[in-house]
Amino acid sequence: MSIAQKRISRRKFMILAINAAGAGAGLLIAAPIVGSILSPIFYKSKYPWVMVADIQHVPVGVPTAYVVMVDQGGDSWQVPKVPRTVYVVKLNLINQVQLIALSNVCTHMQCDVHWDINLNVFFCPCHGGEYSMDGTNIAGPPPQPLFRYQHKLVGNTLFIRNVLVGGS
Ligand code: FES
Repeated sequence: MSIAQKRISRRKFMILAINAAGAGAGLLIAAPIVGSILSPIFYKSKYPWVMVADIQHVPVGVPTAYVVMVDQGGDSWQVPKVPRTVYVVKLNLINQVQLIALSNVCTHMQCDVHWDINLNVFFCPCHGGEYSMDGTNIAGPPPQPLFRYQHKLVGNTLFIRNVLVGGS
């Protein structure tokens, strides 16, 4: 191999090395950008959907309680799931049925409320708070309505997640 050929080889090597360094720097710059674009695809929600039940046969106008284990947020291997009572309520509105998933935690001082079939209200035994079937506070000290779980229906199966909405 002649000296000229060696020089060309060195030149080629330098070009390759510079290109490789440039590509590496480009990857370092692009990785966080691509990661931020793709991360929602791989993101695991802190509050995943939890199956409650097939609610096809829950009667309209009869709040029906289910107990489900829900995430409390954080890393699920560190934070244990907790049981939560969910009242599934099918409200009979004009020409349609509205589905809601109520928390049973009183908005006064967080006692557990229950559906009282005789009084036709959600009743809180701690201080006599009362809520109507849709969770509206109607008597006693509760300052706001019962909270509602985010929910979705897949066919007849209800799913909730431990994200509360409403309450005021
Ligand atoms: S905690 Fe329910 S009325 Fe006080």
